[in-house]
Amino acid sequence: MSLNTIAINQRMDKFDNHDSVWLFGYGSLIFKADFPFIERRPACIGGWTRRFWQGSHDHRGTETAPGRVVTLAPEPGGRCHGMAYLVTPEEFAHLDHREKNGYLRLATEMHFEDGGSAEGIVYIATHENEAYLGPASEHDIARQIAGARGPSGPNSEYLLELAKALRDLGKPDPHVFEIERHLATFGIRQPQE
Ligand code: BEZ
Repeated sequence: MSLNTIAINQRMDKFDNHDSVWLFGYGSLIFKADFPFIERRPACIGGWTRRFWQGSHDHRGTETAPGRVVTLAPEPGGRCHGMAYLVTPEEFAHLDHREKNGYLRLATEMHFEDGGSAEGIVYIATHENEAYLGPASEHDIARQIAGARGPSGPNSEYLLELAKALRDLGKPDPHVFEIERHLATFGIRQPQE
């Protein structure tokens, strides 16, 4: 999986002359923001749905046993809830590096849960990237996640932390929660359960 999206993302200069830019997080960014930010606000974006369709061989899996992490799939009328971060444009160099295996920056409108909206950036991995795995049943996704572990830790930890973060936000996601339910049948549960 050698596609490296850093150079492509650095050509996306739409917000380079801004003092600050909104970044929409719908995956690990909801529960782990390992970068400085000015402000964060629960938000959603329209026309997309969260899916465990992107392969991970560098964070939550390996080349031989890739894990699965989230990307966004187009869904007319759909809505994806997450967390928006106001950051300085320099933070995107760090994010481009962290998400270099297939994620591309896309300009999007985001709507804050407490009102108002702003244009900003979201990272999306489409079917055109080499690490893309695509649709599978929630049962099969859970089985793959149960067996994957990478340098960032077990793939199941990522799923469970995301499910907890969405519960804490009050934004249930049927796809994520169904995978969580199947993981429990494999004996993998939230730590406090
Ligand atoms: C996130 O929202 O957590 C995220 C997902 C994919 C790439 C970068 C960030």
